[in-house]
Amino acid sequence: MNHAKYVIGFESTAHTFSAAVVKITGKKIEILSNVLDKFPPSKQGFIPRELADHHAAVFPIVLRTALNDAHVKLEEISAVAYSQGAGIGHSLHIGYVAATSIAIALRVPLVPVNHGIAHIEITRKDCATKNPLVLYVSGGNTQILTKQKDAYHVYGETLDMGVGNMLDNLGRLLELEIPDAVGVASEANKKGAKYVECPYSVKGMNVSFTGMLTYTEKKLVPLIKKKEITTSDVCFSIQETAFAMLCEITERALCHTDAKEIILCGGNARNKRLQQMLIAMSEAHGVKVVIPPFEYAGDNAAMITYTAAQMLIHKTKLPKDISPEQKMRTDDATVNW
Ligand code: FE2
Repeated sequence: MNHAKYVIGFESTAHTFSAAVVKITGKKIEILSNVLDKFPPSKQGFIPRELADHHAAVFPIVLRTALNDAHVKLEEISAVAYSQGAGIGHSLHIGYVAATSIAIALRVPLVPVNHGIAHIEITRKDCATKNPLVLYVSGGNTQILTKQKDAYHVYGETLDMGVGNMLDNLGRLLELEIPDAVGVASEANKKGAKYVECPYSVKGMNVSFTGMLTYTEKKLVPLIKKKEITTSDVCFSIQETAFAMLCEITERALCHTDAKEIILCGGNARNKRLQQMLIAMSEAHGVKVVIPPFEYAGDNAAMITYTAAQMLIHKTKLPKDISPEQKMRTDDATVNW
């Protein structure tokens, strides 16, 4: 008989502090809890020190709630996971210190997890095929990947900022009531929004997003002020253009693989218009799109702890340096399952 093991994990790469508990029985992984506290968006953007203060302040209650929801005592934990990177240095360190302290106190292993891989793996668990094509879209990252042997290979990616950061910046630039990608999506959905031309920047298999922001600032904002176009027109047009760029490179990658499924993961996978456009493209190729449940699309500790559980089950070799790494890449991680 297999005895159950419990793993607790922490996520703190950016604005969210989260803790989760998973149960491992043999090769079966069950998510028992997933608790998070998110620092609210502001018109000035995030100040790293304030994010770290927030994470440190909510840590005790998030930890306690994650254990209570899972009906697991701290002494029952047999490994501690944390999100090693990529992310904001100040934020990452809070998760690292929290996880390290608990691992040392309990004398159990500390498992560092690649944040991008966790976004992919929490979604891949719902795939019918083993090797889907991945479109990973978040604030800090935008990549097209597939798994090759024991690692992910990047087919294409952003050359500057992630699509999520671009949309968050657009929300602030246009001074939206919700000054981030969520606010942009809701403006774009307003009835009567019209398309205005904006830069479409695909370079080979890569994309670039900063030009869109500069163009909006220099050309489109003055037109809004002259009442020639509306804020909704701009949000709609930037979303349509950015998502068309992503669909173009995903489609090109799809034609070079045997993938029968496409994973859409990362915080911006929640965007309904992006889902719609990707599904339309994929259906034309007879390919299915797999999207994580809302709870697991944004940053959350369940994805970190689930990935750590896979690493423990498959005895994945841990990196020598387990301290936080702000610029960690998805194609650096070993994924031997
Ligand atoms: Fe993320």
